[in-house]
Amino acid sequence: MKRNIILIGFMGSGKSTLARILTEKLGWPGISTDARIELKEGRKIADIFKDAGETYFRNVEHQVVLEVAAERGVVVDCGGGVVLIPANMEALKKTGTVIYLSCAPQEIYRRINLQPKRPLLDVPDPLAKIQDLLKERQTLYAQADMTLDTTDGNLSRVAEEIIEKLKP
Ligand code: S3P
Repeated sequence: MKRNIILIGFMGSGKSTLARILTEKLGWPGISTDARIELKEGRKIADIFKDAGETYFRNVEHQVVLEVAAERGVVVDCGGGVVLIPANMEALKKTGTVIYLSCAPQEIYRRINLQPKRPLLDVPDPLAKIQDLLKERQTLYAQADMTLDTTDGNLSRVAEEIIEKLKP
């Protein structure tokens, strides 16, 4: 049975772009936990945070992780905070290889600035917030089976590396 490829990492680390490259190269389906949450809730992530709060969002995210963990042969692009609930990592690690995409905070900041605001980074000093959250989450991200750096933005190279490393 095929094992899943699970991408974790901070917002802006390249998870969704890399997931798309991997699904194209492998011909596997892709699942984004954020997209599933939005579908389930019928509203955008930013609105869930605004109207129901982060705890509510984390509960829905956990339900979605359990659903995704029942699938096989998929590439999973996880929301950056998925590591905050230990049971999420436990469930995901059982289904496949968890890959942490590390990225320098300055580069995350640059990328995030080009995209619509994430609720957690909609603050006066987003770079400081990125640095704080990265520090808080460092040991959690380090539980991944593999870490690959995406700071140079060459995600095709990262995809090749993953495919090479996961070859039987
Ligand atoms: C979050 C990351 C976001 C989204 C939500 C919370 C986080 O996903 O799940 O805004 O806590 O890091 P991306 O990492 O896909 O942006």
